[in-house]
Amino acid sequence: MAQSTTQTTQNIVREPFGIEALDTALEGGAPRGTWVLATGEPGVGKSILAMHFAWAGLQNGEPVIYVTTESSFKDIVRQADQFNMRFMDYRPVSLVDALTGRVKVKPGEVNLVVIDLFGLYRQYREMLKASEEEGEGERGRRPSRALSIEVLEASVAKAYELLGFEEGRPSEPSRLIIDSMTAFWADKPAMARAFSYRLRQALYRQNITALLTSQYAPTTEMSFGFGLEHIADGIIHMWMDNVTEVKEVRRWLIIKKMRMTNHSKKAYKVEIQPGKGIELEEYENE
Ligand SMILES: Nc1ncnc2c1ncn2[C@@H]1O[C@H](COP(=O)(O)OP(=O)(O)OP(=O)(O)O)[C@@H](O)[C@H]1O
Ligand SMILES: [Mg+2]
Repeated sequence: MAQSTTQTTQNIVREPFGIEALDTALEGGAPRGTWVLATGEPGVGKSILAMHFAWAGLQNGEPVIYVTTESSFKDIVRQADQFNMRFMDYRPVSLVDALTGRVKVKPGEVNLVVIDLFGLYRQYREMLKASEEEGEGERGRRPSRALSIEVLEASVAKAYELLGFEEGRPSEPSRLIIDSMTAFWADKPAMARAFSYRLRQALYRQNITALLTSQYAPTTEMSFGFGLEHIADGIIHMWMDNVTEVKEVRRWLIIKKMRMTNHSKKAYKVEIQPGKGIELEEYENE
């Protein structure tokens, strides 16, 4: 269960993950307003970590924007249900339904805005249409593909509108999940750093705490989207032992950095439990 948002001695408001050992390791959670990156190879639990972060936010009464590039949001709901996180209880509004007008949204009356692949494609089509109508010009720039930083930026900006967040004014505390960032620079890996800066600037709001995930190639030890590490305020790295050597899946998590936080420097053994999700156990070095 999520803990309530806590204020630490350093006057930093913390955004808990709802995973007990992780929140303890982080002095209560990620500092409000920061961007945290979860990195790791396929299957280590990044998406499940993202679900926890979203769920803990909703339970704290914070609006959540949930971007998923891996599937439709229905798949997230099904996976999360297995861990007793019931996203449907928060009546998610999808970007597709909002853009097509299938659902009428009153700004400020939404808890959960979902941007899945269908939402990104819809936003992309709208942008293509606008660029044809308006020709060249600032607003008429054509995004190169649906999975592009321009489309992501525009989609999240739309979600801010649905939540009633106005530019230049502090929004209410809320959370942004982007799972995963990897797809957005698949065709332009060298641009990842520049794109990351741009994205962060464009989506910046004082009280929005973001959790982004990024894949990591165990063979080269390079994350796809290098550059994100440098703009992130925090990095939670997840990995698994070499399965051909240890002959089982053993997952681990470590907090590599977290600004403004005297975080634990230990590694944690990760268990993914049916009905509960991620559980962590601190690893003791001999
Ligand atoms: N109900 C469940 N009970 C126990 N373990 C589960 C359950 N559902 C999924 N898992 C475990 O979680 C793993 C998937 O974790 P997750 O999707 O978070 O990985 P990921 O790091 O996001 O991977 P990718 O980079 O491929 O997206 C599965 O391979 C499985 O081992
Ligand atoms: Mg995933």
